[in-house]
Amino acid sequence: MPSQACLLLTILQLMQIYMIAINCSIEADKIASLPGQPQVNFNQFAGYISVDDNQQRSLFYYFVEAEVEPTSKPLVLWLNGGPGCSSVGAGAFCEHGPFKPSGNHLVKNHYSWNKEANMLYLESPAGVGFSFSTNKSFYTYLDDGITARDNIVFLKQWLNKYPQYKNRDFYITGESYAGHYVPQLADHILKSKAKINLKGIAIGNPLLEFNTDFNARAEYLWSHGLISDATYELFNTVCNFSQIRRQSQQGHFTPSCAHVITRVNGEIGHFIDSYDVTLDVCLPSVQSQSKALNQLQEDSEKIDVCVEDETVLYLNREDVRGALHARLINVEQWSICSDILHYNYQNLEVPTITILGSLVKSGVRVLVYSGDQDSVIPFTGTRTLIDRLAKELRLNTTVAYSSWFEGKQVAGWTQVYGDNLSFATIRGAAHEAPFSQPERSLVLFRSFIRGQPLPRIDNLATRNNTLTRLVYHSQLFYT
Ligand SMILES: *[C@@H]1O[C@H](CO)[C@@H](O)[C@H](O)[C@H]1NC(C)=O
Ligand SMILES: *[C@@H]1O[C@H](CO)[C@@H](O)[C@H](O)[C@H]1NC(C)=O
Ligand SMILES: *[C@@H]1O[C@H](CO)[C@@H](O)[C@H](O)[C@H]1NC(C)=O
Ligand SMILES: *[C@@H]1O[C@H](CO)[C@@H](O)[C@H](O)[C@H]1NC(C)=O
Ligand SMILES: *[C@@H]1O[C@H](CO)[C@@H](O)[C@H](O)[C@H]1NC(C)=O
Ligand SMILES: *[C@@H]1O[C@H](CO)[C@@H](O)[C@H](O)[C@H]1NC(C)=O
Repeated sequence: MPSQACLLLTILQLMQIYMIAINCSIEADKIASLPGQPQVNFNQFAGYISVDDNQQRSLFYYFVEAEVEPTSKPLVLWLNGGPGCSSVGAGAFCEHGPFKPSGNHLVKNHYSWNKEANMLYLESPAGVGFSFSTNKSFYTYLDDGITARDNIVFLKQWLNKYPQYKNRDFYITGESYAGHYVPQLADHILKSKAKINLKGIAIGNPLLEFNTDFNARAEYLWSHGLISDATYELFNTVCNFSQIRRQSQQGHFTPSCAHVITRVNGEIGHFIDSYDVTLDVCLPSVQSQSKALNQLQEDSEKIDVCVEDETVLYLNREDVRGALHARLINVEQWSICSDILHYNYQNLEVPTITILGSLVKSGVRVLVYSGDQDSVIPFTGTRTLIDRLAKELRLNTTVAYSSWFEGKQVAGWTQVYGDNLSFATIRGAAHEAPFSQPERSLVLFRSFIRGQPLPRIDNLATRNNTLTRLVYHSQLFYT
């Protein structure tokens, strides 16, 4: 039914009966207002796109038009990882969407990415969030290939539905396990010669190469004071992190690896968020803590560490589901990460760093960034991988490793290789960088989308001051 209607509408559109085409195809998905949201001047849409000819699988999306001049701003797809986690729940409501849940209402996020682009959040694959398969057998086996194929079908169908975005500059962004989804989808788009104007990809704390990424964890935990010298030594002599990760996926630990895990867990304790080792954790009494935090939030920019719990409560409200045109199919409730999918964990070992290389060579701009407080996929492993890739591609460094700024403070460090490959850290940011460093993340995103270099301080007086201070300190130490 929907595809036939769309065909008819496309013909009508050629005959320039434009209003009808647009009205009819998107009207049903337009969000009047989300419960508890402040008034805004941009459009929001949400709904389903079928990705299967027999209409068995439908993917749920939330689309937020740019705050100003949406017709001249690019289209950006965002994907969270997992595998199995929700881009709407995590990406939109905890990271860089226009609103964050707070008690019974939504507060405006002043650093939302729709200040810069039209943002499309996709829950993928089917079985994640509100996306579903009516045939439950689909959930028994999933892998990167299936995910990428469904994602590209989604994208083509979505662009048929929103034809005004068809020739728009297009970017794919995401984090964590989307270090697989994003390059794989980009690669698919290039190979399929789909008429999609892919300009670049940006991935945060991405899984790119199993051994390098996971083994970087040990040194990170040790150098940040979360484990002792003796325990760090065990990673080098008894059982390393890639072995632990592999065994955890197989559901069985050898006694020596189990011993290392016990030691590590004992030393780190239960009250550290491994996705941001400096951040406080959300304490069990969600309600009371978030209430207290919200009061603080009135005048300060304090991070609500309970935002994920609040998102779960918000997206499970019936009125919210109604406003989003979402349905619960084959699940009891919406959850941030799916527990019904059986993803092929062997796929974690498939390196995607090589795909980044072919994208760069095809002229797709690639930004890899890291929240530097993440111990799960630490920046150290990522930096090594990108540096190694640049050498393989024989790309010269065009911007030497140096700090970049947001306002007058250092927002992180960056290195650029050739024209199309850059690496950046975000200082003080989590695995979900925009969650704990929203402003710095927006500055990075903006520079990337506009193809501009990251901001620096070119005020000489300030530099001179800093330099003087360093000299002064070293004198203090030695006298
Ligand atoms: C289509 O959109 C136009 C402009 O927003 C509006 O005036 C018109 O009423 C809409 N048509 C329908 C059928 O909703
Ligand atoms: C459901 O999916 C499974 C696995 O993909 C397939 O073998 C089966 O034929 C499907 N059932 C129906 C009714 O389509
Ligand atoms: C991790 O341990 C495995 C098995 O002993 C070994 O093959 C691999 O080289 C180790 N990796 C690192 C980085 O130590
Ligand atoms: C970078 O991208 C441009 C197109 O934007 C392309 O011409 C160039 O060859 C790419 N650079 C490298 C080193 O592949
Ligand atoms: C990289 O730098 C070397 C040495 O400066 C130079 O010879 C070479 O042409 C550069 N390569 C590119 C692609 O700019
Ligand atoms: C830098 O500091 C030195 C010593 O305090 C001072 O003489 C010089 O004028 C400063 N330069 C700038 C550009 O502010």
